[in-house]
Amino acid sequence: MRFPFFHVRGVALMIVMTCCVFLFSTNVVEGVIGINWGRMTTNRLIPSMVVDLLLQNEIREVRLFSTSKNVLEAFSRSGIDVTITIPNQNLKGMLDPKAVRRWINQRIISFIREEVDIRYISVGTDPYSKAYNNLTFYYASDVLKIVQNTLNDAGYGGKVKAIISHFFDVLNPNISKPSEADFRPDIKNILTDLIRFQRENNAPFFMDIFPIYYVHLRGWDSEFAFLDNKSNFSIVDYNGLKYTNAFDFLHDSFLWAIRKAGVRDMKLVAGQVGWPTDGYPNASPENAERFYKSLLPFVTSNRGTPLQPGAPIDTYLHSLSDENLLKIDRGAFQRHWGIYRFDGVPKYKIDFTGQGRDIFPTKAQGVTRMPQRWCIFNGDVSNVTALKAEFEMACQYADCTPLAPGGSCSHLDFQHNISYAFNVYFQMTGQYAENKSCSFQGLGKVVPDNPSIGTCIFPVEILAAEEAVAGVSFGAALLGATSGEMIHRVYRLAMLLPFLLVFILTLM
Ligand SMILES: *[C@@H]1O[C@H](CO)[C@@H](O)[C@H](O)[C@H]1NC(C)=O
Ligand SMILES: *[C@@H]1O[C@H](CO)[C@@H](O)[C@H](O)[C@H]1NC(C)=O
Ligand SMILES: *[C@@H]1O[C@H](CO)[C@@H](O)[C@H](O)[C@H]1NC(C)=O
Ligand SMILES: *[C@@H]1O[C@H](CO)[C@@H](O)[C@H](O)[C@H]1NC(C)=O
Ligand SMILES: *[C@@H]1O[C@H](CO)[C@@H](O)[C@H](O)[C@H]1NC(C)=O
Ligand SMILES: *[C@@H]1O[C@H](CO)[C@@H](O)[C@H](O)[C@H]1NC(C)=O
Ligand SMILES: *[C@@H]1O[C@H](CO)[C@@H](O)[C@H](O)[C@H]1NC(C)=O
Repeated sequence: MRFPFFHVRGVALMIVMTCCVFLFSTNVVEGVIGINWGRMTTNRLIPSMVVDLLLQNEIREVRLFSTSKNVLEAFSRSGIDVTITIPNQNLKGMLDPKAVRRWINQRIISFIREEVDIRYISVGTDPYSKAYNNLTFYYASDVLKIVQNTLNDAGYGGKVKAIISHFFDVLNPNISKPSEADFRPDIKNILTDLIRFQRENNAPFFMDIFPIYYVHLRGWDSEFAFLDNKSNFSIVDYNGLKYTNAFDFLHDSFLWAIRKAGVRDMKLVAGQVGWPTDGYPNASPENAERFYKSLLPFVTSNRGTPLQPGAPIDTYLHSLSDENLLKIDRGAFQRHWGIYRFDGVPKYKIDFTGQGRDIFPTKAQGVTRMPQRWCIFNGDVSNVTALKAEFEMACQYADCTPLAPGGSCSHLDFQHNISYAFNVYFQMTGQYAENKSCSFQGLGKVVPDNPSIGTCIFPVEILAAEEAVAGVSFGAALLGATSGEMIHRVYRLAMLLPFLLVFILTLM
């Protein structure tokens, strides 16, 4: 009597399991939405806070540009897949296989043992782009091979893949149709060889797609940058395929170039896709909201592109929050990619699950703000030389990009310009030591009322609690810090000095 009973249960179980496997497998082929997170900021969100933020928003993939020990540890047992980025300036040192072995043991395997789900190692950031001071890191593909081979030898090659992200300028410029795309002549051989190696290792091709930037550079209708099919401008390729937006256009351009390299079944991942909110034509929270509102459902729908209909395209949104210490060699917009402001508050509505709902995402929980105090110009214009000098000093250290032409504060008059600069400097220095950073040769004053003007927000910083936990970046210790991180640390140290002195004095 028992057997039939168990048998019925067994059959039921099998049906349930089959359903689960079926559901699971359909989930697996769906395009995944991930997000990029960098920390080139004066005051930083605590890593565990960000992990919580991602979990609350059901984001399960993250690419980290800063991989200090405490950041990685925060992702332990979170279930979030992590991509680690090796900075461009560290690539040279990784041409030595011994150094790579050491690095993989210390930076990858030890964290995998702590259940950090490391999925990709990004070798550099757009190393073949000429957009950064015309510098091209031709040896990045050599590093990638060493990294992947080392992973394979250590038995982690199935789990962790080395990848390289590619800016669109790896393609020949000014093509009018995707089918004309090919890799730039100076890197064609390198990339052909790289792609074949990556294909053998089942690693995907990461491309960066910034429609706002591309459409502007090409002088195309700005509507073509959005995926909501409202553009009157479209492009028809020789094969009859019609392009109604820049994402499809760029994706298929990359795909053509890869096919011309002799590889037909490469997985393409959109490694950086986003829309800045300041410092560029059409950069605004409204347009960013509109862009993501069509992009995210596109990703989860698996609609694919004209050349590859139905292909899932994993997409990493760029980026989580603004970074006020990033270089601005390509424009002020580089500091305004954040979906969130620096303080973990979302700038606009976005549904990270890709269902296109009209909702604000969860904001960062537990952020401590500095007191509601601002530093502004006191109005004394008797010495304009001194005033300008103080303005320039403030903007040299703090982020004045909203003042630049096209920025959210570009409409301010001269005096409000000065106030903006004084305030960001004051906030950046942590409203330091009884108004001291608001002195500016006696030209600043601290006020309790918010001096923001319309869309021009005068920020108040958050309290950066992280320094108490861990100041030194683990990766930096091993490979040399990025300049921004270095500045940040020296600067933090300077801020701690008065407290240390007080501490020592009390001991005496
Ligand atoms: C970039 O480098 C190439 C050669 O390496 C040179 O011909 C070109 O003028 C450079 N461009 C800029 C903007 O410096
Ligand atoms: C591409 O087109 C732009 C704008 O039309 C032009 O300024 C640029 O020189 C062109 N670049 C090349 C390599 O032809
Ligand atoms: C875009 O709009 C055109 C007509 O305006 C329509 O034929 C086409 O199917 C639309 N494409 C998508 C992907 O919605
Ligand atoms: C696109 O075409 C439609 C209909 O022809 C027109 O109403 C609309 O204004 C056009 N949009 C743009 C941005 O030119
Ligand atoms: C104005 O300020 C500058 C710089 O602080 C100083 O060198 C100069 O003497 C001042 N001029 C006057 C007229 O006070
Ligand atoms: C305000 O500062 C910005 C950035 O330095 C500058 O471009 C702009 O011309 C200034 N505006 C005025 C009115 O001085
Ligand atoms: C700091 O600012 C507050 C408010 O403006 C003021 O009352 C106080 O005297 C200032 N302290 C110093 C040391 O300047």
